[in-house]
Amino acid sequence: MFSQMMAFVYPEVPQDYKLAVENCRRKLRGLIQEQHCAPLILRLAWHSAGTYDIQSKTGGPFGTIRNKGELSHAANAGLDNAVKLLEPIKEQFPSISYADFYQLAGVVAVEVTGGPSIPFHPGRVDQYESPEEGRLPKATGGLDHLRIVFQRMGLDDKDIVALSGAHTLGRCHRERSGYEGSWTKNPLIFDNSYFKELITSQSKELIQLPSDKALLQDPIFSKYVHLYAKDENAFFTDYAVAHLKLSELGWKCGKWGRVLCGICI
Ligand code: HEM
Repeated sequence: MFSQMMAFVYPEVPQDYKLAVENCRRKLRGLIQEQHCAPLILRLAWHSAGTYDIQSKTGGPFGTIRNKGELSHAANAGLDNAVKLLEPIKEQFPSISYADFYQLAGVVAVEVTGGPSIPFHPGRVDQYESPEEGRLPKATGGLDHLRIVFQRMGLDDKDIVALSGAHTLGRCHRERSGYEGSWTKNPLIFDNSYFKELITSQSKELIQLPSDKALLQDPIFSKYVHLYAKDENAFFTDYAVAHLKLSELGWKCGKWGRVLCGICI
């Protein structure tokens, strides 16, 4: 499934860094399960990575989301809570970059809620300058908006639909986004119910954002929505590939010697 992405070589990180990552993964599992915060943590990982701009090679999963300025972007409302929740674990692993840490947390959030396993490769190097506001997709956005934003990151139609399936987890909070409600009846379980609910639209108590509904308005998007609603394995396979890409956008892995750039190769 990951053969295409395996074509490039990941940076060799020292053994003690690998060990720290595995220990950190265990602590994250414990915290995320105990606090029932998988949705918020997944949103943090996504908003950290989803600012990437393939042209200017700025933004992306490099830990800048912890900056006060970036946290105050309207799209990031509520994510200060995620940064605060994770900080006591980060303090136990000072050698791990924030860039790796937040992406590892995103992978763990999917895993502990029953989603697919997503490969995690350590070695991202922290950056300090946040991207400008306005790079993340808007809930009011239609098809064109979604394509423009995700193509700017370097992601394609299949990635858009598969990644939107992350709304199987969590909910909207009026005080954060202006919307209220969850997409599925079981917002702490990662499964394909987001797509099933999207197609049937039968549960009045569940929410569908304009950007969710847009996925049914295009033949290519709609084909994937129907496939994922019918076949959870297909969703999990494509989600894992898309999430891996998202988590490695614009990766310049120079710190430990090899200079290779994630999906750009
Ligand atoms: C396609 C464009 C997308 C739009 C317009 C969008 C918009 C939103 C909005 C408005 C919320 C509610 C925030 C709140 O009120 O707390 C939300 C929540 C969430 N989003 Fe998205 N999103 C998109 C894609 C994604 C992707 C790609 C992922 C992950 C791969 C994701 C993961 C989540 C999660 C897990 C939550 C729940 C957070 C919580 O319960 O605290 N979203 N999204």
